[in-house]
Amino acid sequence: MKAIKKAVFPVAGMGTRFLPATKANPKEMLPVVDKPLIQYAAEEAVAAGIDTLIFVTGRNKRSIEDHFDTAYEMERELEAKGKEKMLEVLRSILPKHVNCVFIRQSQALGLGHAVLCAKPVVNNEPFAVILADDLINFSEQPCLSQMVDVFNYQHCSVLGTEVVPREDVSSYGIVDGTEVKPGLMEVNAIVEKPPVEDAPSNNAVVGRYILTPRIFELLETTERGAGGEIQLTDAIAALLSEQRVLSYNFDGIRFDCGSKLGYLKAQVEFALEHEEVGADFRNYLLDLAARNGSKVVPISQKR
Ligand code: UTP
Repeated sequence: MKAIKKAVFPVAGMGTRFLPATKANPKEMLPVVDKPLIQYAAEEAVAAGIDTLIFVTGRNKRSIEDHFDTAYEMERELEAKGKEKMLEVLRSILPKHVNCVFIRQSQALGLGHAVLCAKPVVNNEPFAVILADDLINFSEQPCLSQMVDVFNYQHCSVLGTEVVPREDVSSYGIVDGTEVKPGLMEVNAIVEKPPVEDAPSNNAVVGRYILTPRIFELLETTERGAGGEIQLTDAIAALLSEQRVLSYNFDGIRFDCGSKLGYLKAQVEFALEHEEVGADFRNYLLDLAARNGSKVVPISQKR
């Protein structure tokens, strides 16, 4: 099977949980410390050996295109002011060998439909899907690289999964199957957002997939499912009856940046690790706790 060289980034969702911030901007452009979510996702893809980034965009697409485009005017100004460090930050957003392709999803008909929109560019090869609002921190190897390693060994579709609290299963695609080895499972069932009592397990698919191109044909005939949307999960359920699909519990910590709480947690954790502000931010948090006798008290209650 061909190597994984293309990654699809569906970024055409409405992002209603983040309104009004997402009224004129896609949620994937929300920053965590100083980088937008979509840049973390692009870096993860590039680290996994991907050289073609395919963005499936919707109505507020401009800012994502601009982010990955060259900013000539800004570069010239920084050059003139001798701001070399900032210039380097601008120029290193993507390595030169990486290409970006933008495809429009004219109607937000669901994640499955967004992935199908990438078919003309992906063609007949296996590919990755990254949902940038699932931001994954890692200690040794980024999540997608881990999954590409699994794919290179097993030559089949691989779903990135995480064990979630039982009460949360109805927010995810949930898989069940047979363990191949610790953390790796051969999937025999997948269901989108099941009620807690019907969930086959609490092993949830999060925003990382490696899929064989057969998924496109299956998506073409997938009817609207949960929430009236064309669900990627339903097409994967059909894929299971034809091909081997594995689920892989990756090593890393995921932040659900599509939700306000998950996004705030990501800000704190990434800020603590940030080269420039990490130490000062940590001192600020320690000071905040100390001033209030180890309690975290909102400003409004201090007055
Ligand atoms: P979500 O389920 O998080 O939906 O989409 P959403 O619209 O982005 O956000 P909320 O729930 O209204 O706050 C999961 C991923 O699928 C993409 C989104 O951009 C996100 O990355 N998506 C979803 C599309 O690209 N197109 C769609 O039609 C739906």
